[in-house]
Amino acid sequence: MRPENAMKFNIDEIRKDFPILTRETQSGARVVYLDSTATSQKPVQVIEAMNAYYRRSNANIHRGVHTLAEESTALYEGARERIARFINASSAREVIYTRNTTESINLVAYSWARANLQAGDLVILTEMEHHSNLVPWQMLQAEKGIELEFIPVTEDGLLDLETYKTLLNRRPKLVSFTHMSNVLGTINPAQEMIRLAHEAGALALVDGAQSVPHLQVDVRALDADFYAFSAHKMCGPTGIGALYGKPALLEAMPPFLGGGDMIKEVKLRSFRPNTLPHKFEAGTPAIAEAIGFGAAVDYLSQIGMDAIARHEHEITSYALERLEEIPGLKLFGPSADQKGGVAAFVLDGIHPHDVAQILDRDGIAVRAGHHCAQPLHEKFGIPATSRASFYLYSTKEEVDLLVNGIYKVKELFG
Ligand code: ALA
Repeated sequence: MRPENAMKFNIDEIRKDFPILTRETQSGARVVYLDSTATSQKPVQVIEAMNAYYRRSNANIHRGVHTLAEESTALYEGARERIARFINASSAREVIYTRNTTESINLVAYSWARANLQAGDLVILTEMEHHSNLVPWQMLQAEKGIELEFIPVTEDGLLDLETYKTLLNRRPKLVSFTHMSNVLGTINPAQEMIRLAHEAGALALVDGAQSVPHLQVDVRALDADFYAFSAHKMCGPTGIGALYGKPALLEAMPPFLGGGDMIKEVKLRSFRPNTLPHKFEAGTPAIAEAIGFGAAVDYLSQIGMDAIARHEHEITSYALERLEEIPGLKLFGPSADQKGGVAAFVLDGIHPHDVAQILDRDGIAVRAGHHCAQPLHEKFGIPATSRASFYLYSTKEEVDLLVNGIYKVKELFG
């Protein structure tokens, strides 16, 4: 455990926790990792927690009375307790382990929405959604005839809240939106949007894939009905995420997947579902990953989410300032005060994939493409952007390397 606490944000010490940050690419360049929005890097504390589990305690959970099974179950459930505290859920039974944010949203679409929505019912989404908060609802539209409406995105990359208020007059059943855009970086006013949804009689589902890693999220202060997030974007492993749900809603929902562990009793022709949260966790879960998820929230908590958010804000402000200086570069999204650590851009006359490929020669990792938000790119009349994204281990020196790299790209393309 790190001796310094949340009061001291020491970037050099933090970077030492991430072994990958010292590696070099084949060309001998040190990796400059600016793709944390796609997935974050993992600190040794997380890697070691997972290793230790496999070395010392590996056994299936909830199924045995032997020492290893009990240890494994305690580690798995202990992680859930800490994840629940991290988002200020009132109890661990409100936190369902899933594979990722996508599966969490699908769980709501398959279980709550199929049981509660009918043809003609309205679901409000936004134009800045990731495909994972669009496609499940489009599938439900095809199956059940629900209606979809979208809160528009303004030129500045903000949600048009006046149109949202007008849409709410149509008495939607659900409003489902991202807390922070994975392309624009926009941090949406989630608390206000949820309050308005509730006033209109709708439930609110929040895609927190980008917010939980970067902001102090309090699901109770937000009054979210459902809140979805992934471990891998917050220093944890891939293959595990979570769905927070208000207990009364989760209790009333039918199970999602059927199988072992999600039942209390099975007869040949019937079953009784298990209690929360196990009702939604069929089959042997990702045990080591859950333990890694728990280690990730410990790691972030120890540094302090406020300190992390402050650092990211400083890096993002600096990055936007430096990128804006580059002739022919257009940035998307609002100013640093309204966004998280994401800088999506296009360079005049140069394809975003070429930008990313040439930057990679110097070890600089950015993502290029539509970032699973094709409709948002269409809205801005572009097929793709290059995107640099930042996290607690990002530095101003890395931003400078990015900027120098972009000047090199421009030179190369004349
Ligand atoms: N949603 C992830 C991204 O934005 C994969 O890159």
